[in-house]
Amino acid sequence: MNAHDSEIIAGMLRQRGYKIIDSLDNADIVLFNTCSVRQHAEARVWGKVGELKKLKAQSAKLKIGIIGCMAQNYKEKIFERLPHVDLVCGATNMYDLPDLLKNLNNSDKKVLAVNKSQRDPRKKIDISKRENSVKAFVSIVEGCDNYCSYCIVPYVRGPEVSRPVNVIVDEIKRLVDDGVKEVMLLGQNVNSYKSTVDSPQLTDNKKQFTVYSSQFTGDSKNKKNDFVKLLEKLNKIEGLERIRFMTSHPKDADEDLFKAISGLPRVCEHLHLPVQSGSSRILGLMNRGYTREDYFKKIESLKKTVKDCAITTDIIVGFPTETEKDFNETIKLMKEVEFDSAFIFKYSPRNRTKAALLKDDVEYEIKQERNQILLQLQGDISKKKNEALVGRTLEVLIEDVNKKNKAEFVGHSRQDKLVIFKKNKHSLGKLVNVRISSSTNHTLIGETE
Ligand code: 5AD
Ligand code: SF4
Repeated sequence: MNAHDSEIIAGMLRQRGYKIIDSLDNADIVLFNTCSVRQHAEARVWGKVGELKKLKAQSAKLKIGIIGCMAQNYKEKIFERLPHVDLVCGATNMYDLPDLLKNLNNSDKKVLAVNKSQRDPRKKIDISKRENSVKAFVSIVEGCDNYCSYCIVPYVRGPEVSRPVNVIVDEIKRLVDDGVKEVMLLGQNVNSYKSTVDSPQLTDNKKQFTVYSSQFTGDSKNKKNDFVKLLEKLNKIEGLERIRFMTSHPKDADEDLFKAISGLPRVCEHLHLPVQSGSSRILGLMNRGYTREDYFKKIESLKKTVKDCAITTDIIVGFPTETEKDFNETIKLMKEVEFDSAFIFKYSPRNRTKAALLKDDVEYEIKQERNQILLQLQGDISKKKNEALVGRTLEVLIEDVNKKNKAEFVGHSRQDKLVIFKKNKHSLGKLVNVRISSSTNHTLIGETE
């Protein structure tokens, strides 16, 4: 989401005549698009921006701006801590940035823009140049209403707002006309997408926080949700080869979704389903809305419905009160599910969240140790899963030339595995069959057939 915002910002600025350059020394403006989701991400920004103090002292015309979630989180406090910063623009004010920069260039005053509680979803997002010409991010839901107790996102990105169906379809058609073959639909929780036509819909944001460990409703009884209907619609777009989406919340991912992954030919067989913890007690404290057993049921149903589906996840270790027993439940869950890959994070308290009211009582060394144990375990599982693909032939989208070896192409399989293979007569954007000859934990190496 953050990377996509950066693309949008670059696009907006290019349209106003700015040039994006690589070197700090020749820049008139330096913008940091920031993330607040974990302490580590913020610490890096404080450090990086701090390093620019000298450069700023040497060049009076240089302007420095902080955009995104940290801007929303710290507001004017950023100016107090880093007086050489000129502009602070929150994630929800992002679309005002070109005008804010104009004000900034026309006066010596600092600019603070953190007044919007939610983003007005753009009807049309024009990004003149994307990071990749073959794959593109498409935002479908912005903000979040889930209030997981550890998470700052609802406070910095505002309530959930869905982009209208016709707006999404038009955007993807334009992308396909420009040569894009694969879209990644983005949202903090894509499964709660609410379809509207042409005007954004706001969801109820009153229920701030309720601890519920098993208010889980059975799947198949629910009527088909709007996200699945959206997938069905996008699947019909001529020229679009692949559809991916991220992130799904386990409480909302249902059997209809699994059937869509299995039945819609363009939807790739990969589900990112963050479990966060294997302990139902911790999941309750996290306000996730499902138990360990609920999660297992989902996985079972997914595995039954979708053949060869990659499953990936996010896990937090060291949430307040997490005991050895809770942690062992996470280990057991990982062994049982066998994720294709997993992002493992050490818990860090985020201001304003409910969990920040709990004592951060798991010592850093223990968090570090648990993190290492899970990384090792996941490494072994990923290795084993990749080894099992040796000898198989996979459909791969040619996405780029391998930066490390220009004689090779890189791409991903439908299950989102990174595949490297020798360049051939094909070109970027083509789907090719690659026979896998060897593997590592993170990469498959092969040859085109
Ligand atoms: N501490 C550690 N990890 C966190 N995440 C979100 N908030 C925190 C936090 N306070 C992780 C979750 C989420 C991912 C994007 O970041 O695992 O899924
Ligand atoms: Fe944060 Fe939970 Fe929303 Fe994900 S679903 S963005 S973890 S509050």
